[in-house]
Amino acid sequence: MYQTLQAETTTILTKADQTVEDRLQAVCELLKARIPYYDWVGFYFKNGDKEELKLGPYAGTPTDHTIIPFGKGICGQVAVSNENFVVPDVAAQDNYIACSISVKAEIVVPLFVNGENVGQIDIDSDTPDPFTKEDERFLEFVNAQVAKIL
Ligand code: SME
Repeated sequence: MYQTLQAETTTILTKADQTVEDRLQAVCELLKARIPYYDWVGFYFKNGDKEELKLGPYAGTPTDHTIIPFGKGICGQVAVSNENFVVPDVAAQDNYIACSISVKAEIVVPLFVNGENVGQIDIDSDTPDPFTKEDERFLEFVNAQVAKIL
């Protein structure tokens, strides 16, 4: 599954006639449609010089959390830790920002451009504990491809 998706992701991201925004949107929709336990897929990016994240393209239910301060929630923690954060059970997290009551698990993988943490991909799942090392490797691949067009 991931091999085909990697190829399709690369095809989408290298469409030079489309805006970066449109390409990221298409990647969110691809991942949400094709991986059954990916129920919300979105990108957050550092908001200029501010110590906060701003929501970018996403697929899934609209969220109120379009701005997230560094350190807050799973996303805000990844903005400062520079490390993947896999949450098998969101109810067990103290520093967590709930977007929808249906969400059971979350994975956030940072996105680096020239070694700098500029944003992240965030996946919410309505399935408990669905994420594996394969998801981490796949999302690292997606972010590395995105980094090339930013
Ligand atoms: N749950 C995230 C907030 C973003 S929503 O999942 C879209 C967090 O705790 O950072």
